[in-house]
Amino acid sequence: MNPPVGITEDNGDAYFIIERLAAGTPVWAFECRIGEYTDYLRENALHAQADHVAQTWLLRERESCGIAGYMSLIADAVKLSTAEKELHKLDYPFKTIPSLKIGKLAVAEVFRQKYRGVGTYLIYLAGHIARNSINPYCAARFLTVDADVEHDEGVLAFYQKNGFAPNAELTGKYRKTISMRLDLYI
Ligand SMILES: CC(C)(COP(=O)(O)OP(=O)(O)OC[C@H]1O[C@@H](n2cnc3c(N)ncnc32)[C@H](O)[C@@H]1OP(=O)(O)O)[C@@H](O)C(=O)NCCC(=O)NCCS
Repeated sequence: MNPPVGITEDNGDAYFIIERLAAGTPVWAFECRIGEYTDYLRENALHAQADHVAQTWLLRERESCGIAGYMSLIADAVKLSTAEKELHKLDYPFKTIPSLKIGKLAVAEVFRQKYRGVGTYLIYLAGHIARNSINPYCAARFLTVDADVEHDEGVLAFYQKNGFAPNAELTGKYRKTISMRLDLYI
C-alpha cells in the first residue's frame, strides 16, 4: 500500500475540488468514522441547506469524483471576555464578535487512509471562504467550531493543531463540546 499523500494549501487544488451540496448529489457512499457525521450528510444536510440553516460544501477527489470530506458552514457570533478581546486587539465595548462557524466537518475513512491533511485543508477552505467570499459583503473575524469531544477527545488536538483556541465562555468541565475560535486576521 502506498504511503498517504500529504495535502496542503499549495497542492490541495491539484487533488480536490470544492462543490456545494446540491439536490441529486449522490452522498450514500460517504462514510466517516463517526456514524452521526455520516448520517448528517446522507440524511440532513440537504434539508438544512433548503431551510437556510447550514450550507454544506463537499470536497471531491478529482481522480475518482468521490467525496473525501464535507463541511457545513453557518453564520455565528462568539462572546469574548475582556482578556480575550485584548488578546485579539479588539477594543470594543461589546462582547460579541461576528464569525463563521464550522457546524459539521468530516473526512471519509477511505480518504483518510489515502491522504493526510484533508481535514486541515477543509479548515483552510473555510477560512478562504470567510476572507474572500463573505468578506467584503459581511464581516467574520473568527472561524468557530464546537469541538465534539463526546465522540472523539482527539478532535481537541486536531483543532489546536489548526490554530484554534478554546473560548473561555463556553468551555466547561462537563460539556460535550468545546467552543473554539481561530482568528482569521492575526
Ligand atoms: C477530525 C477529522 C475531520 C480530522 O480529519 P483528518 O483529515 O484526519 O485530519 P488531518 O490529517 O488534517 O490532521 C491534522 C493533524 O491533526 C491530527 N488529528 C486529526 N484527527 C485527530 C483525532 N481524531 N485525534 C487526534 N489527532 C487528530 C492528525 O494526526 C494531524 O496531526 P499531525 O499534523 O501532527 O500529523 C476526521 O478524523 C473525521 O472526519 N472525524 C470524524 C468526524 C469528526 O469528529 N469531526 C469533527 C467534529 S467537531
